[in-house]
Amino acid sequence: MSKLCIQGGKRLNGDVIINGAKNAAVAILPATVLVDGISVIENLPNIDDVAILNDAMRSLGAVTNFLDKHTLEIDASTVYQHSALDECISKMRASYYLLGALLGRFGKAEVAMPGGCDFGGRPIDQHIKGFEALGAKIEVVDNVIRATADKLIGTRIYLDVVSVGATINIMLAAVLAEGTTIIENAAKEPHIVDVANFLNMMGANVKGAGTDVIRIKGVEKLHSGKYSTVPDQIEAGTYMIAAAITGGDVYVRNIIPEHMESLSSKMREMGVEILEGDDYLRVIAPDVLKATNVKTLPYPGFPTDLQPQMAVLLTVATGVSTMIEGVFENRFQYIEQLKETGAKIQVEGNKAIIEGVENLKPTHLKATDLRAGAAMILAGLKAQGGETVIHNIKYIDRGYESVEEKLAALGANIYRKSSN
Ligand code: EPZ
Repeated sequence: MSKLCIQGGKRLNGDVIINGAKNAAVAILPATVLVDGISVIENLPNIDDVAILNDAMRSLGAVTNFLDKHTLEIDASTVYQHSALDECISKMRASYYLLGALLGRFGKAEVAMPGGCDFGGRPIDQHIKGFEALGAKIEVVDNVIRATADKLIGTRIYLDVVSVGATINIMLAAVLAEGTTIIENAAKEPHIVDVANFLNMMGANVKGAGTDVIRIKGVEKLHSGKYSTVPDQIEAGTYMIAAAITGGDVYVRNIIPEHMESLSSKMREMGVEILEGDDYLRVIAPDVLKATNVKTLPYPGFPTDLQPQMAVLLTVATGVSTMIEGVFENRFQYIEQLKETGAKIQVEGNKAIIEGVENLKPTHLKATDLRAGAAMILAGLKAQGGETVIHNIKYIDRGYESVEEKLAALGANIYRKSSN
């Protein structure tokens, strides 16, 4: 069990290069099952979730090969298995994308009920609604989802909840279906557009991704090809906040600035200067951060995956801020940890009231999930007068590539220590 050790108080300066998006990669890798041939996926983040999905693809019979640490070649023409029940797969939420992909290609799929971060109830009723509307029969027995269909037929599907996972999963099941599928009230996140672009690169006919109505005209089959994933909006946002909380001046590079608009505007309200280039943002911290109010919403609203990181920034802003979690029912578990640093936060249902303090105290903190882990690092970068130690960092490795190397290159005093 490794841990991260941080001596806070260092201003971050310099350039950080952002990797490909985790939430695009963990959808595109299962989507390669739909290709009766070879997919070469570039700009993949070198993270645990990608490694687990690579193993999952191999367990289905695909032949895979890392051409370098960010490029994976997958030959899915050899896939013969329709069952992905391995425990390490089910731990990942994105394992549910194997359902849509296997059902779409073979008309049958068996996947364990997905795990993932605990944010209260995370049902998949909208995924099932979509698959059943396309003509599939769905059974859930002993925590295993079985989906079968003689033929998938395109239809109109209205999502009762704006869901990233359901939007993508229905898209995967619909690309080889007969006729046209229309997904209404679809989610619009950048990684949804990225999955649609990947599928279209392989010969699919998906229109409207990025809007709330997506039209998928079924095609015979998908062909081999190469694709490069979109930059990671959430990794970029995490480093933008790291620059602001340390009083730094950082160029966050290899990003699509438009994807960061909701965060940039909130940081500007706090007095942070943000200068925009074609594929970078320069973040210059003010002497004093001002309080503000944030509510998380589906894209293009403020991303829930930056909620814990932004809350940490608000703990050292002058005045009282509020953070409302508008996507998940319970995503404030990390706050008990944060209070250990002296942060002043009160939670009322899905609202956190944050009274700014001068500084945070170094202490031992536990990562309770991926983004909460990133938030604990930000608290450690700010806390002065001793060492902050972060435990359970396996959560962080699931979604951030080389986090301590990247931060150290910006001037942070951070290192990984294995505890054996
Ligand atoms: C995806 O999760 C991301 N995970 C999450 O990122 C992210 O927080 C979330 O989208 C929202 O942006 C991946 O992409 C692998 P949803 P997902 O379906 O698909 C409800 C991270 O840190 N809902 O958009 O599970 C649901 O309970 C992770 O990278 C239903 O009610 O999220 C939630 O309240 C954490 N029924 C809301 O919709 C359904 O069938 C949004 O969930 C599906 C969802």
